[in-house]
Amino acid sequence: MHPDLESILFTQEQLGARVKEIAARLDADYKGKNPLLVCILKGSVFFYTDLLRAMREPVEMDFMSISSYGASANSSGEVRLLKDLGCKIEGRDVVIVEDIVDAGYTLSYLKRLLLSRGPASVRICALLDKLERRVVPVDVDYKGFDCADEFVVGYGLDYAERYRTLPYIGILKRSVYEK
Ligand code: IMP
Ligand code: MG
Repeated sequence: MHPDLESILFTQEQLGARVKEIAARLDADYKGKNPLLVCILKGSVFFYTDLLRAMREPVEMDFMSISSYGASANSSGEVRLLKDLGCKIEGRDVVIVEDIVDAGYTLSYLKRLLLSRGPASVRICALLDKLERRVVPVDVDYKGFDCADEFVVGYGLDYAERYRTLPYIGILKRSVYEK
């Protein structure tokens, strides 16, 4: 385990098994619909690539980048669009694939933005959900795991751009970010 971590929350095996289950649900729900799966950079990149490779139905890929945190461990409530989709989504079935829902600012902003473009549907798929921290309501249609109110890193999730490439998800020691 990385020395900056308090403990491991989800092992590589647990993540892999859960990703397969979500992929099977998406396959069933979007059969024949050729949905657009939107990866929210950078945190959901490993979840997204594992999820899409576990799916059997054809899907299309696109990417968006949003900033909400900067280098702090607390959400600011201010959401900024850094990179928009490369395609039109009018009439399409869209699934937003995100790493974690915290206060909910990011996903409520994103969902509103995408809905304003006239898609057939927009659903949310998030690997982790910190329900206790919710400020703005967000419906998570496909969820990996509920997550305690701790700062977690790994499998794409970072603290100040570190720890993203750890293959598991762990709780970051408070001493790392409370300095
Ligand atoms: P929200 O807008 O408050 O829901 O924040 C969601 C975003 O904050 C996520 O997309 C993550 O980028 C980031 N975030 C929230 N909690 C954590 C965490 O525990 N570790 C790493 N990033 C987090
Ligand atoms: Mg994110």
